Amino acid sequence: MNTTQIGKPLNRTDGKLKVTGQATYGAEWKLPGLVHGVFLQSTITSGHIVDIDTSKAEKAPGVLMVITHKNAPRLNSIDVYPVNSAGQQLLTLQDNKIYYSGQDVALVIAETFEYACYALSLIKVEYQENKPLISLEKEEANAYPTPWAPVQLRGKVTDGYNQSKTIVSERYRTVINHHMPMEPNACVADLRGDQLILYSPSQWVFGCQRGIAEIFDIPKENVRVISPFVGGAFGGKGPVWPFMTWACAASRKLNRPVKIALMREQMFTSCGHRPYADFKLTAAADPDGRLSLLKHESYNHTSVFEDFVQFIYITTAMLYACPNVMVDHKLIKLNTGGPFAMRAPGEAESMFAIESVMDELAFKLNMDPVKLRMINHADSDPRNGNPWSSKELKQCYIQGAERFGWDKRNNTPRSMRDGDLLVGWGMATALYPAYMAPSSASAKLWANGKMEVRTGAHELGTGTYTIFAQIAADASGYAIDHIEVFMGDTNYPKTPISGGSRSTASIGPAVQACSASIKETILGLALQDKDSPLFGANLSDLEAGAGFVYLKSDANKREAFTDIMKRNNKNVLEEYAEFLPDGATAADRSRGFSGYEAPIFPEHKTFSCYVFGAVFVEVKVDEAIGRVRVTRVVSAHGIGTVMNEKLATSQIKGGIIFGIGQALMEETVMDPNTGRFVNMSIADYHVPVQADVPQMDCFFVKEEDKLVNPIGAKGVGEVGIVGVSAAIANAVFHATGKRIRELPIVPEKVFIG
Ligand code: MOS
Repeated sequence: MNTTQIGKPLNRTDGKLKVTGQATYGAEWKLPGLVHGVFLQSTITSGHIVDIDTSKAEKAPGVLMVITHKNAPRLNSIDVYPVNSAGQQLLTLQDNKIYYSGQDVALVIAETFEYACYALSLIKVEYQENKPLISLEKEEANAYPTPWAPVQLRGKVTDGYNQSKTIVSERYRTVINHHMPMEPNACVADLRGDQLILYSPSQWVFGCQRGIAEIFDIPKENVRVISPFVGGAFGGKGPVWPFMTWACAASRKLNRPVKIALMREQMFTSCGHRPYADFKLTAAADPDGRLSLLKHESYNHTSVFEDFVQFIYITTAMLYACPNVMVDHKLIKLNTGGPFAMRAPGEAESMFAIESVMDELAFKLNMDPVKLRMINHADSDPRNGNPWSSKELKQCYIQGAERFGWDKRNNTPRSMRDGDLLVGWGMATALYPAYMAPSSASAKLWANGKMEVRTGAHELGTGTYTIFAQIAADASGYAIDHIEVFMGDTNYPKTPISGGSRSTASIGPAVQACSASIKETILGLALQDKDSPLFGANLSDLEAGAGFVYLKSDANKREAFTDIMKRNNKNVLEEYAEFLPDGATAADRSRGFSGYEAPIFPEHKTFSCYVFGAVFVEVKVDEAIGRVRVTRVVSAHGIGTVMNEKLATSQIKGGIIFGIGQALMEETVMDPNTGRFVNMSIADYHVPVQADVPQMDCFFVKEEDKLVNPIGAKGVGEVGIVGVSAAIANAVFHATGKRIRELPIVPEKVFIG
């Protein structure tokens, strides 16, 4: 395949629609007769509803319906994924029990949003309160293992202690974070005949379709989910959340379209969060820096009504070459809503811990942190000895360090200054699995000159519309300006969840294959067509580009795709293709195409697929007020084929900014007495703003991956955040001599009085 378009730093094809306000988001679908739903949510954290009085609300102006546990239809709960939950299993409004603060207790549907809000204020709830489970530390004795995270053991954990001289044994913690997309979760549910149409920003229209069908016990074919644009998701728009279920239930009951748009405050209670993570890590190294032991015990919190496992226990066993490794992970039940995956779920947390330990080890060994990582580089997957599909991590360290100017770093803390500010340089490794899953796509070429590519999956803001057009152009030989990509609809070909950075790697090959079939058909027509200037040529003599077939030896001998079609009386050519990643079985395909998770994990039978990288940061610390500013970041990643350098770089930059939030600002604070979140607004839950964004130099090392998939691409949506919090914490240590082992690194932890 020629790669005229792939790799080009093209602008987003959907950029103009977005900046001119023409892209329609979930809450913006204007349907005739649309009514509005607003939830009243629990003010207690654990207990039950003794009484709920909705009589005044029901009589308030504009009110059409009030749903509580007393009159709500009883619904089916959703099947769980093999390794995770399908969002929150608890549907809400099914009984009088309260499991978390912010749980739905009533839903008012009214003619306008304002009527609904007013009616809500008239509802009286009497609660019986229990003492909630809210402290990870206090509940640690009740931690329990799950089948999703069995103990991993390699070598002997005792050997590491015996042979080694340098040991670090510490505890690291990350806190509850919320996804905070610009676009709050929302949906419009519209029952038309026996068809239920759900407009909602979604990372997974097919999972949503399947979930809604199961909940209401209706055929899947009767549910259509539409999601052409998503205003940021980060994990929080993957599953069917209760508000979506209740919009559907209300629409079914009223036979009118119902909109429920979560308010920013409800974004903290109603669509998941990154759970607490707590790591007890022990690392030991020989005097030459070689790791001899890694011992990892970790805990996540989950809700009291389901087991949700964030993948915080995976990385320790495969990141470095270490003969003796033990990894154990347990869950702790707390009275919160269901936690869920959040960007780089698992790695964002665990790499803070692991890469902090490595920095502590390097300091104790008096060794350069990059050198320590080079020494322990895993040339093959340490879990099974298999080769990597590609891994240019050493080049990431070398080239990243060079661009950063790392060789000028003095290893001693507090040795670098800029006026009154302490300067610190820190680094960390980054990695993220190259997940893939069974996928499909279709392409249509019309004789009128338009080519259309369809695939069910989603544009989360990552650039998939653009990248799929690039792939389609190169594979078909058609002109990119005349290719339109359609996404985000259960009527389009089946695709997996747009999560775990898998869209380009999974769906890209399907787009490529169906587009290549278009080209094949066109070439075949040309060869057999007496009126074509290419008649009688050999297939191998032909090439296609920009919508023309031409002779490789003489590009002037050419003909337009559309002319060939017209002469052959073809109004449209249509092709469909599927991609099954290496190792995917027919059962995986059927499961995945039915709207269940069927991920192909990065450990394939004979090789392992990961994105690797290195991130280098500079911080400047004003010790007098405890303020840390990130002033410079250099990142280097190996992602296989760079599909679109501009968009890929944007993904990495966005990830790094996400990481700055995780490192320095973001924490959803739980009231230690009541268990309620206290900072449920963007004013109080701090995310980075433009003034927090430093100079960033993000680049990709040259890397070719012939194994991962036919386009050689590994996902880039999440790896950018990974390692950033550790690099910042390591830089803060280098600046101040103070090791901070619990995120976020807010001023009171840095301040030295
Ligand atoms: Mo991502 S947290 O897998 O959407």
